[in-house]
Amino acid sequence: MKIIHFSDIHAGGPAEDFLAYIDKRWVGVFNYTFRRKFQHDLSRLEKAVSYILSHRPDLIVCTGDLTSTGQPGEFAKVRAILKKVVDAAIPFIFVPGNHDYYVHRPKCVNYMKSMVEYLCGGRYTFAQLPALQRHKDLDFLVVNESWPSNLISSHGLMKRDTCHFVEEVCSRPAERPRVIVGHYPLIEDHPFLRVRHRLFGQQKVVELLRQGMIDLSLCGHVHKPYAKLDASGRGESCAGSVTRNGCMSLIEYDKFKNTFIHQQIQL
Ligand SMILES: [Fe+2]
Ligand SMILES: [Fe+2]
Repeated sequence: MKIIHFSDIHAGGPAEDFLAYIDKRWVGVFNYTFRRKFQHDLSRLEKAVSYILSHRPDLIVCTGDLTSTGQPGEFAKVRAILKKVVDAAIPFIFVPGNHDYYVHRPKCVNYMKSMVEYLCGGRYTFAQLPALQRHKDLDFLVVNESWPSNLISSHGLMKRDTCHFVEEVCSRPAERPRVIVGHYPLIEDHPFLRVRHRLFGQQKVVELLRQGMIDLSLCGHVHKPYAKLDASGRGESCAGSVTRNGCMSLIEYDKFKNTFIHQQIQL
């Protein structure tokens, strides 16, 4: 089974309504205008789409941060590029990042929710997360960890009901290896240094990953790709930012050897 995993596109643009100058969006628009615009190149996402269409994976995984501030115009830019893979009907798992669920403004939240349904072909809605999805030889635990936060923080939260869901799934006999898909890295090596950017509330889920009850964690949020894997390809893999570093992950699960083979694709 072949999976292509990419993340952190960070499309951006101007403020789309006057309230954007009052809520957190002004921080994101400022950041995009003076920094991200020069770092994130959407043509790399177009290259990723061409690669995906020519290699036809069994599943596409995108771990969020499609946008910079979660505004409809930013989502629309990404939607136009990803339309080809959606039209190709390749199964797709998408979870929003903190930049996609950036503010409470209804038009932003509604567009984010519509993107979940659009990319996933209606297999689940945002309201139905956390969700268990089976694709061929693997079970996927799809979790949302992103919520609007204050002006200076980019932290995520694995809410208690999400942890309970993961624990309940892992308490059952495993029929297939389990892959958890979320925006934030579960394994946090520098919790104090990264307090503004880290995930909170995931300790029990990390235990399940360490115990092998969860085989693999796929995440984004950190823009430089990295992997913390054992000899059988189990552990955590971060795809990095496709538009900043031109990278994505190709992961093949070999059912007979029961191993995951990871490869970094440079576009
Ligand atoms: Fe990001
Ligand atoms: Fe993020």
